[in-house]
This record gives sequence, structure tokens and C-alpha cells, in this order.
Amino acid sequence: MSAAIIDGKEFAARVRARVAENVARLKADHGLTPGLAVVLVGEDPASQVYVRSKGKQTLEVGMASFEHKLPDDTSEKELLDLIDRLNRDPEVHGILVQLPLPAHLDSDLVINRIDPAKDVDGFHISNVGLLGTGQKSMVPCTPLGCLMMLREYHGDLSGMNAVVVGRSNIVGKPMAQLLLGDSCTVTIAHSRTRDLPDMCRSADILVAAVGRAEMIPGDWVKPGATVIDVGINRVEREGRNTLVGDVHFDSAVQVAGAITPVPGGVGPMTIACLLANTVTAACRANK
Ligand code: GUN
Repeated sequence: MSAAIIDGKEFAARVRARVAENVARLKADHGLTPGLAVVLVGEDPASQVYVRSKGKQTLEVGMASFEHKLPDDTSEKELLDLIDRLNRDPEVHGILVQLPLPAHLDSDLVINRIDPAKDVDGFHISNVGLLGTGQKSMVPCTPLGCLMMLREYHGDLSGMNAVVVGRSNIVGKPMAQLLLGDSCTVTIAHSRTRDLPDMCRSADILVAAVGRAEMIPGDWVKPGATVIDVGINRVEREGRNTLVGDVHFDSAVQVAGAITPVPGGVGPMTIACLLANTVTAACRANK
């Protein structure tokens, strides 16, 4: 038996279409154009690709895009001054500072300088706290995209055993909070977890967010489980540069009930959720 493939690319296109409708309505009814500012410091090639893609898709749904590309040696003060300006700018409803930042910049300090109402990444400490206590917050885009796909595929998630492999602030921890909010029984596993294979085999929902190419083989997957693969890892295969997930797709697809592919699974949903968060921020600012 082969698993159902959860098509994130198609789902993300539907989310973007809904965002575009909402943007058109905000323009027509309120004269408001939602705006997203993306800040990139340095020359990291993967970050440059993501930022270009975010800017392009922002324009495609009819929103305003403001790109700020700063050199590698930008000082903390220069970056904080830019964030202060964006916080005050009424045309900017969402602010995203692309991570990772160069080592001389303190990411926590920078992220926490963003106005929480414009923090479309949901990384500001007050949004983290609101999410953790089940209050209305900006929700980090990658876990939000994963949750939307799980809800779409399963409907009600309550009572399911969910194992999240990876404990990052960007994905693992907020993913666990969201699944808990949907009444799953949640375990966060990581590199020090004892008997990780058995832990993974207990999962009805297995979310892989470790950033290690094909680390989770099919025999760690419970038959019929839903596998969400957050990993985007570049590897050399037969002399070609290829993208693979954290899950070994070819073996897992034989065992799982449903699985997200890489590419075309979680990745497109992340940017779609960023656009949706920006519209949410614009609506809240307009109230
Ligand atoms: N770097 C990798 N993923 C993300 C993300 O979701 N947001 C930001 N700001 N940086 C990232």
C-alpha cells in the first residue's frame, strides 16, 4: 500500500487565492493595502531565495512588498533603527526579519524589537506567550501550515498521538502547542530522546523537523500514520543538487497513511501562511 500524498502546493495555491480575495476586499471597502516588509541581512544564498520568493508572492496577491537588504556588517543599532522605522510606518502591517542573522547580531533582541502586532512570524516573546496560553496571537507560519494540512486531511485531531521530532523555537515548540490546542496527546522528541525509533512508531501524527536529511526511515513510521515532513535539505544525488526532507520518503510512503512530499509539501504552505498572517495583521490594525 502506498500513502496518500498531501499536496501542499495545491493547498497553498487555494490559501493564496483566499488571501488575494481578502486583499481585494480590504482595498475596495477600506482603501487599505496590506504591506509586508522583509529584512535580509547578509548574503546567505538559501535566505536570498526565500526572501525573493516571499516578495514575489506578496505582490501576486495584491499586497505591498518592502524589501530591505542590508550588508553582512550591518550593526545592531542600524538594524534596530530600521525596525523602529518599520514599526512606525503605517503602510507596513507585517515585518519579517529573515533568520539566521549573522553571528554578531543578537536574534532575540532584534526579534523582540518588532511591534508584536506586526510580528507576522509569531516569534516575538509576547506572541510566544499568547500561543502558549491559548490566547489570540500571531502563529508561526510553518507550524500553522502543517496544522492546516492536518485539519484538512483529518478534520478533528482530538485524541491523536502526535510526536514532533525537533524542539526549535521556529517549528518544534510552536507545532507542539498548536497540536495540544487541537487536543492531541503531544510528545516533543529530539536528539537526546531515548529510543527515538519506538517513540516515532507510537505516533498517529509524526512531524519531522530536525533538519537532517532522510533521518527518519519508513520502519520508524506506524502503519497508517500521517507524516508531515518539515525538512528542506540540499543533498548531492547522482551528481545533482536535490532537495530531500527529514523523512526517507521512498520507504515511509510504503507504510504511512498520508505523507507530505519534499518539495511540494510544507514549504509552499509556509509562505501562504505568512501572507495570511499579514492580512490578519492589517485587519487588526484597521479596527
Ligand atoms: N528562516 C527559516 N525559516 C524562517 C521563518 O519562518 N521565518 C524567518 N524570519 N526566518 C526563517
